[in-house]
Amino acid sequence: MMNKGIVISALLISAFILIFSSCKHDPVGPGKPEEPEEPPIVIDCDPDTVYFKNEILPLLITSCGVIGCHDPGTASDGVVLTDYASIINTGDVRPGEPDKSDLYEAITEDDPRKRMPPPPKPALTAGQIAKIRKWIQQGAKNNECESNNCDTTNVTFTGQVWPVIQNSCLGCHSGSQASAGILLSNHSQIAQVASTGRLLGSIRHDVGFVAMPQGGSKLNECQITQIKKWIENGSPNN
Ligand code: HEC
Repeated sequence: MMNKGIVISALLISAFILIFSSCKHDPVGPGKPEEPEEPPIVIDCDPDTVYFKNEILPLLITSCGVIGCHDPGTASDGVVLTDYASIINTGDVRPGEPDKSDLYEAITEDDPRKRMPPPPKPALTAGQIAKIRKWIQQGAKNNECESNNCDTTNVTFTGQVWPVIQNSCLGCHSGSQASAGILLSNHSQIAQVASTGRLLGSIRHDVGFVAMPQGGSKLNECQITQIKKWIENGSPNN
């Protein structure tokens, strides 16, 4: 068990060095293919680590990497925030140094004319900003984890449902220009959409529903099961 952990960490570190050094000398231009190598998935999430694929990528895609903003097609200001290499390069992310990273500066800007995402989109929440800060402080790695113990017995709105919606949906479904007029900014709005069957249908990619999150990867099985359980329990505000 111990050896496996060491091997996985060593692999992660070398993958990181590889990606990071290739970024420095060989910036990824618009026409270049993405890194084919995927780092190994860490089994069992460490609660003190912020994982890029689990938390940062969905948040950046839904809040910034949407069509008309920082998707590869629009690339406002040359910034693309839909994949790891582009986020590091065009967001000018300096591993370990959030205060010197353009991406972090943009989301914490006080001046609403410069702040990202710009109004009428709401600013990122304090919790989301803190996650991004911590991820950069921890080396801005291209990491991912998978939990083997999916808790589906003690599902609550604040514990499981709201964090997923915040990360993967809120960027498009809040504010005055919410996609399809669907608002998911608080418990009652989410419970309302849940009651129509569209919440579950869209995240499960059921036939007859538009697959969500749009532009991002499908929620994992644990997240979908937890949301389903919460709806079955009557979508409580707990
Ligand atoms: C990048 C923007 C974006 C993100 C992120 C996003 N949505 Fe959507 N959503 C849309 C758009 C656009 C539509 C309208 C699609 C259409 O009608 O073709 C939509 C439609 C929907 C619908 C109606 C679907 C139907 O078939 O009636 C639901 C429900 C929904 N979204 C929920 C969610 C949930 C839950 C998440 C997060 C897991 C999410 N969305 C993430 C943009 C987004």
